[in-house]
Amino acid sequence: MAMLRGRRVVVVAGAGGVGKTTVSAALALGLAAAGARVAVVTIDPARRLATALGIPGLGDEPHRVDPSVVEAAGMRMTGTLDALQLDPRATFDRLIAREAPDDAARDRIVRNRIYRHLSGAAGAQEFMAVERLHELVDSGAYDVVVLDTPPARNALDFLDAPERMTRFVEGRGLRLLLGPRAGAGRTGWRALQAGGHMVMSVVERLTGAQLLTDISEFLQSFDGMYQGFSDRAAAVHDLLASDSTRFVVVTGPRPEPASEAVALWRRLADERYPLGAVVVNRVHREPGVTGTPDGLAGLLRRAGAPDPEGLASRAAAALEGARARAAADAHEVGTLSRALSGPPLAVVPSLAEDPVEVAGLAQVTRALGGGARDPGGSAGAAPPPDQARRQTT
Ligand SMILES: Nc1ncnc2c1ncn2[C@@H]1O[C@H](COP(=O)(O)OP(=O)(O)O)[C@@H](O)[C@H]1O
Ligand SMILES: [Mg+2]
Repeated sequence: MAMLRGRRVVVVAGAGGVGKTTVSAALALGLAAAGARVAVVTIDPARRLATALGIPGLGDEPHRVDPSVVEAAGMRMTGTLDALQLDPRATFDRLIAREAPDDAARDRIVRNRIYRHLSGAAGAQEFMAVERLHELVDSGAYDVVVLDTPPARNALDFLDAPERMTRFVEGRGLRLLLGPRAGAGRTGWRALQAGGHMVMSVVERLTGAQLLTDISEFLQSFDGMYQGFSDRAAAVHDLLASDSTRFVVVTGPRPEPASEAVALWRRLADERYPLGAVVVNRVHREPGVTGTPDGLAGLLRRAGAPDPEGLASRAAAALEGARARAAADAHEVGTLSRALSGPPLAVVPSLAEDPVEVAGLAQVTRALGGGARDPGGSAGAAPPPDQARRQTT
């Protein structure tokens, strides 16, 4: 939390299911508690978490989290927290509306079936996550925007998504589909449309679909918009690579997500993205229980429990299991720390209850070093980045 104060963008990445959405929400909560105006873009949050944050399933407008709920969870709220759920299609439609030369062109695109398909595809979700981030930063309404990232096959796909999408929209691949004459550039393309109409309708009859018309319309509609798209992709890249951004990589204490986290971290470092920290989530702690099964059996007997010996031995077995889990997790944290050699590692304990309520999130926030209860403590307006760096311990 200390290293994030004063930043404008926080990107939370990692393998699927490790707790990215939870950590995003917890970090956003901590930044808001400390005085910043925060927006968190969540992606497919657990239903109960979405409910706790007050964000309905559809629509991607920010909703203000009720500060009294945060205060009821024992955390002082000096800033504001807005949460929203990414809606890739709505974001894409807005992007089209901004980039299209006029309303007619916009309508043609959003009605087009290739576009409808494209804007719902997995790659579009990644592209739109960073696009939505950019919109919110641009709006000027927030000091910091926290971005949860989509559950991609490769956790860093979203870094390449804007460029990939620009290339798709540019249409080289689609033009190839239409045959050599279409691939020969705009003159050939126009010729195909004028003279090749029959060819197209024959193929259409064969495919039984309006596919080629859709492709041709799609390419035509995007004509002249590539520049806008690639400028936007470049702007998004600059934002992600700037010093006011920090990447947080989340993993669990298991070999698979941990090695993905290491790979992610290295790639971010290689490509000079601003690194923050690695969060190891759901780490089991040493139970910290003392005593022997005999001692416990004695206590249970005196308390009048039925079958004190049986109960005590089951408790001892459970304790043994918990200790073994804690030891395995500690070993994994050590391995990860050595493999990364350098970045700050933040450990979040495995909570007894899923953190899908604000109170549970607040526990995660505290584990990450935020959410001071003390009103005179670290709560207050977020300092500018250079000051925040000096404050980092
Ligand atoms: N520290 C934790 N202790 C217990 N449960 C957790 C913790 N962090 C996350 N969870 C639970 O694990 C599940 C996956 O978390 P989520 O944040 O949705 O992961 P991701 O976004 O990476 O897919 C959720 O049910 C969440 O409530
Ligand atoms: Mg998620």
